[in-house]
Amino acid sequence: MNKPDTSTTNQTRPYQLALFGHPVAHSQSPKIHQGFAAQFDLNIEYHLIDVEKDILWAQVHQFFAQDGKGANITVPHKQHIIPALDAITERAELAGAVNTLFIQNNQLWGDNTDGAGFVLDLKSKGITIKGQSILIIGAGGASKGIIPALLTECPNSIHITNRTQAKAIELANQFDSCSAVNIDTTGPSYDLIIHATSIGHQGLCPHLNSDWFNEHTTAYDLSYGQAAKPFLDTAKTLGAKASHGGLGMLYGQAALAFEIWFNKKAKID
Ligand code: ATR
Repeated sequence: MNKPDTSTTNQTRPYQLALFGHPVAHSQSPKIHQGFAAQFDLNIEYHLIDVEKDILWAQVHQFFAQDGKGANITVPHKQHIIPALDAITERAELAGAVNTLFIQNNQLWGDNTDGAGFVLDLKSKGITIKGQSILIIGAGGASKGIIPALLTECPNSIHITNRTQAKAIELANQFDSCSAVNIDTTGPSYDLIIHATSIGHQGLCPHLNSDWFNEHTTAYDLSYGQAAKPFLDTAKTLGAKASHGGLGMLYGQAALAFEIWFNKKAKID
């Protein structure tokens, strides 16, 4: 990329931001980022760009060639974008996925703020990670995206369970302190159970074992709204003390992306 960095001074037109994904029509990102920008009196335009895989790279490069300040990448392109970038951060490398693009020293960089945004939300809710036993349900990109950030907070253990056991084993093997457990396993119970499959978007809940829950268990679904409901409702029925959807994570990852673009820490209410 051959493009000068822009700064937050001498702004002559709105800063150009965009989300690339498929679909993107119902994204909350424009509203979230407009809210952040208002906190600093910044003038931004946040575009939703619904793009198929085969033209993603060209569209992203065109956006930055035309004065794009920063961009987010969402499903299903978080992995596919990587070869189109000049460099990625260590945490994006660990997650194997990118959700935030920015220009640094004339180079197009990819970062991943999902995991850190998740941890930010857990902390803001007073949920402890250090020393806790954690179960992650699901072994796809969403799970991989949060594990490195969770590990930096020193949990006691992270167990991964998945419909396809081989994928849980493969994911667990990529990280220290992670192990795969069979979906039918009975016990132990966990302090924090994180739902990271895509099944909630079909109105369904994954298989849950009642032994996983105790009176201290917190249930967290990385999805939000209706997609989070089947898991959170079932978790409550099985005895979870508290349950949270992923809206806070959405705000957390957005605030960290905003900070990368503008070097300003937005308040999340
Ligand atoms: P990604 O594309 O993010 O890597 P994915 O293939 O969409 O991930 O799958 C995300 C997760 O949802 C996986 O853990 C997947 O389980 P499998 O590995 O067994 O496919 C899980 N998932 C999707 N549909 C599911 C279903 N109907 N029941 C249980 N788990 C499901």
